[in-house]
Amino acid sequence: MTLYSSLIRPLLFRLDPETAHNVAIEILSWGWPAAFVAVDTSAAEPVELWNLKFRNRLGIAAGLDKNAVAIDAWYRLGFGFCELGTITAHAQPGNPKPRITRLVEAEALINRMGFPNDGASAIADRLDGDAGRRARKSFPVGINIGKSKITPIESATEDYLNAFKALHDDGDYFVVNVSSPNTPGLRDLQDPVRLTEILHALHHYNVTRGTKPVLVKLAPDIDTRDLGELLEAIINAGVDGIVATNTTLDHGKYAGRAEGGLSGRPLRNRSDEMIRFISEETSGRLPIIGVGGVLTRDDYARKLDAGAMLVQVYTGFVYRGPELIQEILG
Ligand SMILES: Cc1cc2nc3c(=O)[nH]c(=O)nc-3n(C[C@H](O)[C@H](O)[C@H](O)COP(=O)(O)O)c2cc1C
Repeated sequence: MTLYSSLIRPLLFRLDPETAHNVAIEILSWGWPAAFVAVDTSAAEPVELWNLKFRNRLGIAAGLDKNAVAIDAWYRLGFGFCELGTITAHAQPGNPKPRITRLVEAEALINRMGFPNDGASAIADRLDGDAGRRARKSFPVGINIGKSKITPIESATEDYLNAFKALHDDGDYFVVNVSSPNTPGLRDLQDPVRLTEILHALHHYNVTRGTKPVLVKLAPDIDTRDLGELLEAIINAGVDGIVATNTTLDHGKYAGRAEGGLSGRPLRNRSDEMIRFISEETSGRLPIIGVGGVLTRDDYARKLDAGAMLVQVYTGFVYRGPELIQEILG
């Protein structure tokens, strides 16, 4: 039994899921508490990608640190990188609460957060401050951007571009999130024509400012035929990688428990299949960040085996805390 499973998790799980999340992030944002549960990951092999040095392949997934307040803690805990956000051009409160449900027996979560965040310019200010700059130096920091809820879908390109411009200097790589199920119409942007328009706009700005790697995060619910076409558009647009996958709307035997995207153990196989498909379809030319249902070392190994270069965790970290990092990298 570790400190997390014997003490911290039982306390957190007495709270409703979002309060538990907020308490954990608040404590992690102080930085130093991470030292009590820090993991020695020095045995893990480093990897270089997009001209960035990753001390290991394990990172935190988007959604855990939406407002970029705990970067230092992610580093101290042993992660090789972190992905902040989703951040939108406009600050927004997200969907009405409650909006996260725990399915403890399934080691899963269902969420319909809807991108609550402080907005791109406030978060850019935070990342430009002394503490933000110091933390960002320690390891690669990705920034995941999404469409603001108030922006109509026809103006999505401009909205993504505004978030990208505001944060361009503050991230080491960027992820265009067109796959959250909790912003109406967002997944419609996984259409080759619409996505190409967004990617071209970002590319134009990118080349004028010193190019940063741009990735696209996809849903696990795209059927294989559409995915082939979409990948072609993504490659043609010069994208640097794919994050696969976001949460699923296919709740299987957990249907009816809550509305929103399902993550954790029930997502693992679908996510692995999608990573394998993308890797084969692109002949391994497009680096993949694999995410979805990593709760053990074996789950992590399966992601790499399917073709992922890097791996992220969200739900696994909620259920297993730092012992998951220890098991994978220790
Ligand atoms: C509560 C919650 C909030 C999330 N918020 C975001 C988000 O803002 N942006 C995003 O791209 N993905 C978000 N995700 C999806 C995760 O980044 C990840 O893709 C998904 O949960 C699958 O990984 P997991 O099974 O390890 O959780 C969220 C997931 C959860 C559970």
